[in-house]
Amino acid sequence: MREISLFTPFSSRGTTFANRIVVSPMCQYRAVEGQVGAWHLAHHARFALGGVGGALIEATAVERDGRISEGCLGLWHDGQIAGFRQLAGLYRDQGIPLGVQIGHAGRKASSASPWDGAGPLAEAVPPRGWTAIAPSALAHADGWPIPVALDEAGIARIVAAFAASARRAVEAGLDFVELHGAHGYLLHEFLSPLANHRTDRYGGAFDNRARLALEAALAVRQAVPEAMPVWYRASCVDESAGGVTLDETVELARRLKNIGIDLLDCSSGGIRGPVARSIRAEAPGHQVPYAERIRREAGMATMAVGLITEPEQANRIISDGSADFVAIGRELLADPNFVYRAARALGHPFPHEVLPRNFAFFLARRNMLSADAVTK
Ligand SMILES: Cc1cc2nc3c(=O)[nH]c(=O)nc-3n(C[C@H](O)[C@H](O)[C@H](O)COP(=O)(O)O)c2cc1C
Repeated sequence: MREISLFTPFSSRGTTFANRIVVSPMCQYRAVEGQVGAWHLAHHARFALGGVGGALIEATAVERDGRISEGCLGLWHDGQIAGFRQLAGLYRDQGIPLGVQIGHAGRKASSASPWDGAGPLAEAVPPRGWTAIAPSALAHADGWPIPVALDEAGIARIVAAFAASARRAVEAGLDFVELHGAHGYLLHEFLSPLANHRTDRYGGAFDNRARLALEAALAVRQAVPEAMPVWYRASCVDESAGGVTLDETVELARRLKNIGIDLLDCSSGGIRGPVARSIRAEAPGHQVPYAERIRREAGMATMAVGLITEPEQANRIISDGSADFVAIGRELLADPNFVYRAARALGHPFPHEVLPRNFAFFLARRNMLSADAVTK
């Protein structure tokens, strides 16, 4: 049997990823009215030139009030498509599939950026903030405003907004779509008993709490071509007792798979407090066991994320079958050439070939020249 490594290509529906390293979605807080700008192009160019297997654009709002912050990207109207098309072109030039993470911030909408404390903007700077929505009128944390509980018409509007944003992603030429179902945002809030105290068919038992996630995922699946992969990022467990359990997430994964979702991106936490567990200081690879169990028990492709920073560590996660992809966030910010570094560290026969052809050409020559120098 062929050994699977970090550099084994992966095909899903009509898309092939040349290696298993994916840029984790990372909010940049640099958009104006949801538009892609020069910053986003520069940010993504670093990864497109670094030879990643795939990349995800940051959490992108399906409606204006669904932005986490004022600076979040959006795909809530057609005028936002052109900017995403530029990002798609950047990656397409390098043969790298690009996806967008679409989501709704729920009761964590209208927040300040992390460097301004990530607290509720509505309270901090009144004219700029807006009223958040949620499954129930329960504040995210002490000091946060009470959100408005969605009625069924509001829920239907959200599902339709997910589908419309996914259609815009297709029009922009993106290769795949991920629903943001993690980190205490709207889909996660419905799933978690810690945020959802509803008594209608969207609250209570797991079947009801999972209803919005499944409706949104199905609407997205139906909005995009058969050949396009659709992924789902989940917070596999909540940080507090009484929250989402791993057993529930395994069941959610099974149901998502049944409606045609191709991969579960396995994060955690975020239902309480401004910073998701995913980003706090934790042990290396602390969320990998979630990806491993879901992959094994739900028979679904998974992506592991969270403090994956070393080539050998990343390779082991893939080769031991814990996950199909590793998503890397901060290490790629620090070193956008991580993939090249990994190829060299792991003894890839042509490490320079993970880079763009023009870089690879000169690096190959450099290697030849230094080999010559040794023989002379
Ligand atoms: C600046 C920054 C922005 C982030 N924005 C998002 C986001 O838009 N969507 C998301 O699901 N996770 C987001 N995250 C979490 C990352 O995708 C990732 O799960 C987390 O940073 C752990 O991976 P790492 O240890 O490789 O950074 C963000 C993290 C950082 C550091």
